This record gives sequence, C-alpha cells and structure tokens, in this order.
Amino acid sequence: MITTPNTAFDISSATPATVAADWLVVGVWANESLSGAAATIDTATGGLLTKLRESGDLTGKHLELIPVLNPTGIAAKRLLIVGLGKPDAATRATAHDAAAASARHITGKKVGTIAFAVPSPEFTLAVGVGLAQGCQGPGVRKTTPTRFAPEKLLLVGGDAAALPRVLAESQALWLARELVNAPPCDLYPETFAVAAAESGRTHGFDVEIWDESRLAAERMGSLLGVAQGSTRPARLAILRYTGNPGGPTLGLVGKGVTFDSGGLSLKPTDGMVDMKCDMAGAAAVLAGTQAIAAQKLKVNVLGVLALVENMPSGTAVKLGDVLTARNGKTIEVLNTDAEGRLILADALCYASEQTGFLVDFATLTGACLVALGTETSGLMTNNDAWGEQIQTAIRTAGERAWKLPMDASYDGLIKSKVADMRNTGGGRWGGAIAGGKFLEQFVGNAKWVHMDIAGPAWADGDTAALDAGGTGCMVRSIVEMARAFS
Ligand code: BES
Ligand code: MN
Ligand code: ZN
Repeated sequence: MITTPNTAFDISSATPATVAADWLVVGVWANESLSGAAATIDTATGGLLTKLRESGDLTGKHLELIPVLNPTGIAAKRLLIVGLGKPDAATRATAHDAAAASARHITGKKVGTIAFAVPSPEFTLAVGVGLAQGCQGPGVRKTTPTRFAPEKLLLVGGDAAALPRVLAESQALWLARELVNAPPCDLYPETFAVAAAESGRTHGFDVEIWDESRLAAERMGSLLGVAQGSTRPARLAILRYTGNPGGPTLGLVGKGVTFDSGGLSLKPTDGMVDMKCDMAGAAAVLAGTQAIAAQKLKVNVLGVLALVENMPSGTAVKLGDVLTARNGKTIEVLNTDAEGRLILADALCYASEQTGFLVDFATLTGACLVALGTETSGLMTNNDAWGEQIQTAIRTAGERAWKLPMDASYDGLIKSKVADMRNTGGGRWGGAIAGGKFLEQFVGNAKWVHMDIAGPAWADGDTAALDAGGTGCMVRSIVEMARAFS
C-alpha cells in the first residue's frame, strides 16, 4: 500500500562530459568564474556556459534552472544548469534544494538516468538526498501521474563512502512523505502498524505492535480515550534497533493521528482538510529509525509510534471527561481537538520507563504555526544541554528549529479544578508552550525535547525544491541526532 520509488543510486568518477545519461545536471556558483564540473562542461560544449554568462542568461543565482535540450560535445542527451548560489553561503540545505529543484524540473516526465555533477565531494549527501526529494510528489496517484522517479540517479564525482547513507536517507525521506501523503482511507492505525512492521523486516529492526486490549492492560487510558470515538482501533508500534549493545538508548516518540477531525470539538472544513498530515511525527520516527538501521549506525534506538484516529461519535470522549494516563495522572478533557498531547502522554510514559533520553515529534499546535510559520519547528525541553544537542543535530541536517520558553511560570496554563491537569491552555495565549508544559508531566526524570512540527510537516503548495504535501521534515535530523548520540 505504501510504495516508494525503486530508483537505483550510483557514484561515477568519470569526467561529466563523458557520462551517458538522459539528463546531466551541472551546478554553477554565483559571482564566480566557472570551476570544476562547470568549467569541464563549458570546454566540452565549446564555451556554452561562458556564452550564457555573457548574455546574462546564466547568473548562478540559487535555484536558477537553464535546460539545454540539444547540447553538443557531451555524452548526455540533455543538460540542465542549476544555480548553486554564492559559495560562501553554501550549506547542506542550499545544495539539497538545488538538487531537489533540478530533479523536480526533470521528473515531470518519464526518465531513465539523471546524472548530477556533484560540485565537490562533501556535497554528495546533500545532492543525493536532494535529488531523491525532487523525484517524488503526491501526483503519483493520478491515473496519469504528474511525477516519475527515474530508473537511476548517478552522482558524478561524488564520495563513494557516502553512497549507503544517500540511499538510506533517500528511501527514508520517500517513506515519510508517502505515509503523510497517503489518504486516511488507506492509512489508519492498523495499516500504519503494518507499514512499520514491514520496514522493520526489510531494514533490520524489531517491531512490536500493541492492540487495544494490550493498551488497556498497559493502562494507556489517555491514548485509548482519544481512540474510543473511532471505528478504527488504536495501535502502539514499538521499534527497537540495537546497534550498540549495552549502550544508552535514544528514545523517539511520534504523534500518529492518522486523521484529526477534532473529535466532538469538531474542526471546520478549512481546518480539517489537510488533517491526514497529523501523523507526520510518527512517520518521521519510523523513517528515521529505518534510515539509522539501514546504515547500521552504532547506536540504540527505541521508537514509539502512538497511532489513533480522532473522530466524533456516540462513543467519543466528551468535554469534561477525565482520563487516567499510564503514570496515574488524571486529565480533564476540555477540548477533544487537543488530542495529540493525550496520546503522547502514555507513549512518553512508556518511553521514559525504558530510557533517559527522549525526543518527541508532533504536529501538535496551530499556535506553533502562528508563532514560527511553516519554515521552523518549535523546540521545548526540560534540559537545556540536551535541547542544545538536539538543536545542533537539526542544524547540521539543514533543518530548522527555534526554542520556546518552558519556565515554571507557565505551569498555570494546564491547571485544572477537577483533575491533575487539563488538556487545553484555556485562553488564547501560549498555545504551543501549553502543549509542551502538558507533555512535560509524562517524561519522568528523562532528558526530553518536544518538537512541535505542525508548520514544517506539510506544504500547502509547490515550491521550487518541493512538491506540495508531506515534506519528510525531521527525517534527516533524526539521523544526525543518532550520529551525535552514538
Ligand atoms: N493537529 C492539530 C494541530 C495542527 C494544526 C497541525 C494545523 C497541523 C496544522 C492539533 O491536534 C490541534 O488540533 N491542536 C489544537 C489545540 C487546541 C485545541 C488547544 C489547535 O492548534 O487548535
Ligand atoms: Mn487536534
Ligand atoms: Zn492533531
């Protein structure tokens, strides 16, 4: 049901002019004389790039795209020149986006081999995964698809040692985005759990699935409270990858609401229309764990996916109901649309019993979108040093997060008159922080980071480097977290 491209990846050390491919992509830096592969192609084509520069058509501005459909002097059938931007501003993110924009330009039609002349070997990972990003979009489900993954991606002049990582991260990014793009009629807690088990079998990690009777036996009353309104039963998927026997374990917890209608606190249509994306946290944890296992990183990972559907019905949790979470704490439900924190409460309790190092990923609040926009995730923590370590991994991956305050003075946001806490902030202010403060009640003594990914998880429209829909956010960051942890 969840299918991802079976594109092959390879490295070539041939000179780019001699590489046979349907497309050869070459990058050009802004405000620089032609160098490396660009200079080689310029010479082979009798000065084509120089002429384009002189005419002002080629500037090297980041994401500028110039297709040349009938190049002479090179073995590739077509040439695509892509702007890499200024070299001193180049990062993993700018190289990733340049490669992604190139692939998006090409893959609207069926294509065999795309070769990319990697500007220098240190960009192999960014270019490889960026190309993969640009090869996939939601249009693959149309009877006449609007995007086609190529048979082969060839990284010319790339670092051969990076190839397994390129493959692992590309496939993981594809999986995460496909899970988010999958319609809620296909992807619900049971089928998500099956996808997790399949990934575990293929890539070498253990997956244990808890059904609703096990969840009840494990006292996960808060998670089950959300699930009780749906005809689709809840699941908890527990992923275990052991790459460092006896060592510490990185605990990753994901919000997997396969559809968020709001429950009895029903969302209006405009707010509900994209709510198949509400499992992007769980998708990132599954895909990230897959990428870590596929590379056999020397690290231990525990992944916990909390999988439910949030629906209104005669059996749904009601406003004023009180739920009891796994750690015994009681929760007054004042808004059934604040369901993410209810399911994460039990998942975090369980994870904190297993390890002292936690990161959760959740499309938790619209308030975080209001605060930070769609580019940047909110980061909240109970331990500044752990928060800094996670923030550094995110930055290294070329993704973005911004820390929000968690001072004790915010505790009032979740105070309840009838139970240990309530599930909404009450007023309009500090909604993202209220979510963080609530989750903090369930992590015990663990060092913990909460990532509110409500903004970056979903793209409303196409951009140069990314098709609309699931973005695969945090997959690359999770790999960096694991590398820093091991
Ligand atoms: N899944 C939503 C948050 C969301 C909003 C994700 C927009 C992605 C885009 C979450 O379950 C939710 O509904 N949150 C409420 C919380 C409120 C009731 C305290 C919200 O943000 O309005
Ligand atoms: Mn909700
Ligand atoms: Zn939600």
